[in-house]
Amino acid sequence: MASHPASHSHYHHPVETDSGAFFKIAAILLGFLVGIVGFVAVMLWADARGARDDAQAASQAVGTPAAHEHNVAQPLNSFAGVTPANAQALAEAHKPYDATLPAAPAGSLAKVHLTLKDMTVQIAPGVKYSTWSFGGHGAPGPVIHVRQGQTVQMTLTNGGAIPHSIDFHAARIAPDKAFRDVAPGKSFTFSFKANDPGVYMYHCGTKPVLAHIANGMYGAIVVTPTAKPLPKVDKDYVLVASEWYLNGDGIKQPASLDMNKAHAMEPDWTTFNGYANQYVTHPLTAKPGQTVRFWVVAAGPTLDTNFHVVGTIFDRAWPNANVSGTPQHDVQTVLVPAGGGGVFDVKIDEPGLYPFVSHAFAHVDLGQVGLLKVGDVKGTMSH
Ligand code: CU
Ligand code: CU
Repeated sequence: MASHPASHSHYHHPVETDSGAFFKIAAILLGFLVGIVGFVAVMLWADARGARDDAQAASQAVGTPAAHEHNVAQPLNSFAGVTPANAQALAEAHKPYDATLPAAPAGSLAKVHLTLKDMTVQIAPGVKYSTWSFGGHGAPGPVIHVRQGQTVQMTLTNGGAIPHSIDFHAARIAPDKAFRDVAPGKSFTFSFKANDPGVYMYHCGTKPVLAHIANGMYGAIVVTPTAKPLPKVDKDYVLVASEWYLNGDGIKQPASLDMNKAHAMEPDWTTFNGYANQYVTHPLTAKPGQTVRFWVVAAGPTLDTNFHVVGTIFDRAWPNANVSGTPQHDVQTVLVPAGGGGVFDVKIDEPGLYPFVSHAFAHVDLGQVGLLKVGDVKGTMSH
């Protein structure tokens, strides 16, 4: 700054000279100079600020808002498809979530005990995520299978760090009593009678529910109809569709939830049973001529799934998992809404690899695709 040398020579040694008048005048002039410099500085600052505002207005106009402004939307940085170089080997080494419907317990009482655990899981090859896990095995939680008319005695033990709860869509029960928050270290038991057959979502209902579901707190419960049994099939598979919103790529360190992406509904990964493309690498299987039943839940937290099997047509479909009603026949794609379910039967005679997808195709690119391998055919494929 121009005034700097002057301030040194005059202010640091004023008492070393007897020429007082000169220094008084000099001081007045200097004061004036400082005033001018100050004024110029203020003008420059105002100018710069104006320029910044202009830049900001311009950037808002083109959709790239300035990151330092808190009242302006931040750009959402996608990690879609970002995996380490050895992704294929990791995908092959990954043990897929068992999609096979487990047997329902015998007797009139089905006891279910889920322990909530905070844990790191992989949601795509080499992509780690810090989940809140029902049952301690990642997301989704275990498939629960009961028969219509059984009483489900549900115990939730909270082994996590914050309160959680469990909400069963298969239950008719007062949620303020049954779906209440359970404090860390505590357990809570409630019972309901599974009178309504179908496949239902269960999930944590603790606020903010979006965050609890997005962090992996969801699963499926199948209530097999007994009053009006379904046609017999050869294979039963359970698929829980969901999406993941990451605050990092999850490769060096685990990602956790990006709430802005969750609100914007811009997932990085979408999956069947919690891990991108796992049934492409490890296909579900059937023999030619067998009938396969898919029990599908869309857990969201927000997005629907448009269920479709490439290369065939659903012989029977129960949209909304309305298995006590009449199925639809010969349909191609059925919406499974977030928080809903559907049941789909396919009988495939010709050996081959039949992809099952959400036919909203962004989901296929993000990982919500698998293969049904019919017969002894080679290899895998992506659709
Ligand atoms: Cu929770
Ligand atoms: Cu719900």
